[in-house]
Amino acid sequence: MRAPAPTRAPETKPLRYLRLADEIDAVLEGEPDRVARMASVAALLAAEFETYFWTGFYRVDPGRERELVVGPYQGTLGCLRIAFGRGVCGAAADERQTLIVPDVEAFPDHIACDSRSRSEIVVPVLDPDGALIAVLDVDSTDLAAFDQDDATGLETIIRRVFGKA
Ligand code: SME
Repeated sequence: MRAPAPTRAPETKPLRYLRLADEIDAVLEGEPDRVARMASVAALLAAEFETYFWTGFYRVDPGRERELVVGPYQGTLGCLRIAFGRGVCGAAADERQTLIVPDVEAFPDHIACDSRSRSEIVVPVLDPDGALIAVLDVDSTDLAAFDQDDATGLETIIRRVFGKA
């Protein structure tokens, strides 16, 4: 008689993010370059979650007053520059807070780089001194694709990758 196949409970979203955080740590071990780190985080996140349609970074441009410029991303063509306070990314940069937007059409001043995006989450990226260096923007073609588990998971990854000296 054949033994029954072992059944395994599906991995929860919080555990998925923690596993990914460990994988990202392992990949980035010893790599100090910030653009290389952003590119790897965007690639690994986009590959992990089917709901992610656009995954990437808008960096604080040190040469401009309160302006973000697009950084490494996976997805369709993104807008190049976003002023602080504009759209979801600009609001998250201004407030230095994670923003979850379940319906982008209901967000005043949302910037539609790709009209297929329906919901999004934006997480501020701070360096070890607490200075804002970028925001991580993830968009989905589904409404209400992101919840508190995504916020906690992404904040954990961002802190581990960019918040340590
Ligand atoms: N949705 C963003 C703009 C960036 S893109 O979607 C890639 C916003 O409103 O900030």
